[in-house]
Amino acid sequence: MRQIAERADVSIGTVSHVVNDTAKVREKLRQRVLDAIRSLGYQPSQLARGLRRNQTNIVVMIMPDITNPFFPAVVRGVEDVAYKHSLRLVLCNTDNDPGKETSYLNELRSYRPAGWLVIPAADSEMTAQLRSAAASGTPVVCIDRQPPGWKGDVVLVANEAGSHSATQHLLRMGHRQLAVITGPLHLTNAVERLMGFKRALAEAKVPIEPEYIQEAQFNRQSGYQAATRLLRMLPRPTAIFACNDLMAMGVLHAARELGLHCPEDVSIVGFDDLDFAEFTAPALTSVHQPGYQLGTTAARLLLDRIDGSQAPAQKITLPSELKIRHSVASLSPANSPSKPKRRAEAVALR
Ligand code: RIB
Repeated sequence: MRQIAERADVSIGTVSHVVNDTAKVREKLRQRVLDAIRSLGYQPSQLARGLRRNQTNIVVMIMPDITNPFFPAVVRGVEDVAYKHSLRLVLCNTDNDPGKETSYLNELRSYRPAGWLVIPAADSEMTAQLRSAAASGTPVVCIDRQPPGWKGDVVLVANEAGSHSATQHLLRMGHRQLAVITGPLHLTNAVERLMGFKRALAEAKVPIEPEYIQEAQFNRQSGYQAATRLLRMLPRPTAIFACNDLMAMGVLHAARELGLHCPEDVSIVGFDDLDFAEFTAPALTSVHQPGYQLGTTAARLLLDRIDGSQAPAQKITLPSELKIRHSVASLSPANSPSKPKRRAEAVALR
């Protein structure tokens, strides 16, 4: 500080005010200090600064799993907004485990983050730590999932509507034996997607076979296991709606292993519309979620709160959109350009 003050020919107090933004400094003096800082290559200690202000420029993002290809776009959206506003991001993976979420919220509080962005690993209700983080005065924005009881800011995607339109599409294509592979049902978005599926069937007066509803974990392996169970059932479902694309990949894999073809033997719809959805064989019909926009919207909301906005809590729901590709066969002869060769017999299952 002393060197900077000498170079800029100002007092150490003035340098401190410029560096820590603790008081208004005349523009001419401010520029002199900034020039001196640049020429001396000075890097302020974020740690010291954080201690003085009782707040750092860190945003903590708590999320399920960065190796799930849906989440990088969300994180990228958050980071692009945060970076422009001199906020820096710390990432934590919970694996959808409320216990891990609790540890992160507990431990990282002492780092005095400027704000939290949380994709909750909600159970039957939000974790006590999430409740207390929100009550502590540090802004919190939930993304993608709204835990029961959460009254703060939240940015979601239209899950129920997306599943409803995916299911309607299957019904329009003549399917009546529809199965669903849900995400973990302690997560609100998994429940909403199941609700959309059920609503479409109820509206079409198509009964739901309870064993055609299989719960899985939003990952490929559990999707594969659930699909293997479904595809061994008699009668076999003609279509499977997988509530995310990773599980849809698992369904494709299971079908292939059992000697079944998509869409001739089984139609498949996913949810997320990940980049690879266009490149599976056949290209996957899927409900598009605007992942990047989910991240930017949540980060902007958080920034407003960090800047002191006292506006009432906001719930923003971004639209989802069904992308129709080639993984659904038409079973109704009337609208079938190329009749699918549905096999009536059960395939020889291992
Ligand atoms: O693929 C992961 C799923 O969990 C996504 O659909 C996303 O919405 C998340 O909650």
